[in-house]
Order: sequence, then C-alpha cells, then structure tokens
Amino acid sequence: MTPPPAPPSLIDGIYLDDLGELIAGIPSMIGFPPVDSIVLVTFHVTDRLQFGATVRMDLPEPRHGPDMVSQLCLATVAHEPDVAVPVIIGGGSVDPPELPYRWLMELVAKELGEVEIFACGPTPMLEVITQVARAFHVPCQVSLEEFMACAVGGCAGCTVQVQTHEGAAMKRVCVDGPVFDAYTVFQGPH
Ligand code: FES
Repeated sequence: MTPPPAPPSLIDGIYLDDLGELIAGIPSMIGFPPVDSIVLVTFHVTDRLQFGATVRMDLPEPRHGPDMVSQLCLATVAHEPDVAVPVIIGGGSVDPPELPYRWLMELVAKELGEVEIFACGPTPMLEVITQVARAFHVPCQVSLEEFMACAVGGCAGCTVQVQTHEGAAMKRVCVDGPVFDAYTVFQGPH
C-alpha cells in the first residue's frame, strides 16, 4: 500500500517570478534534494505567484499510480491553490519524446481537474453542501433559486448578498447568476 503523504509544507510570503527558478528551489522547499520523486508545488495567484503547499512522494509503480496521485492531490487541494505544478525528478534514462512518467503527469492533471462540486437545489441544502465543500477544501459552485418578477434584471427582486474583492455586494440571480462561487454566497470559518 502506498504510504500516506508527508504533511505539506507552507512557505508564506515567498514569491516566484520565473518558473525556471522552481526546480532549483525544490530542495530548499522540502528540506533535502529529492531523488526519484514527484513533487507537487502549488501557488496562490495574487499580483504574483505566491508559494502554497509543496508535497513530495516517491515515484510509484504504475499499478500504485492512481492511489498515490489521489493522496498527493488531496494533500495539496486542501490548501485551495490557484495553480499546481507537478515536477518529476529522476525516474530513468529514457529521452524525449518517450518521457517515462508522462502517464503520471496525466494522472495528476486528471485528478486535479476533477475536484470540484457543482450543486443546485433549495438554499438550505446548498448552504450545507458548501459547508461540506469547505470542510474538504474543494471548489464549489452553486446554482441559486430565487423568486423572480421580471427575470431580466429590472426589478431587483431576486438579489442575494455575495462577497466580492471590494466587499459585500448585492447580485441579481436572474442576470448575474444563477451560478455563483459558493464561498462568496455562504460565508463560514476558514
Ligand atoms: S427578477 Fe427582476 S431583477 Fe431578477
């Protein structure tokens, strides 16, 4: 059985201006020079790329790949990154175009691309779903249902309060939605 991933390391306040710096910086990020490893580095996008979690695992046998990738991605998605960069280190002497761990990269891309919740239904249910999504730190979108008088944005009868980068704002479900980022609609502890 694939061992559980090491706890992700958080490096706050460190920025990356050039992705070429990434590989050179991995030993300092994880504390040692990795060998035959996959390292998943995540970033938050502000005005620049800011490091999030960095998780390393040994390169797996193909039969252990899906389980290992699930654990790897779960450990990093928990930090709600905007960008995730998998890096393969070592892994044999086969030259391109037969990159030996292309299959592993494809598993990672597939796994990260699938982790999101989409929900529709009664508002109380959507709020509970958002709580679940928040608990597991996965993205969540909700389709809101409100009574609508005009349905074209003229009466403001379907407004809901959402959080924006500028603070709380009223949005019309009929024309601004009905699909919203759940975390902007239902606030909760982070
Ligand atoms: S129903 Fe009138 S603004 Fe949405």
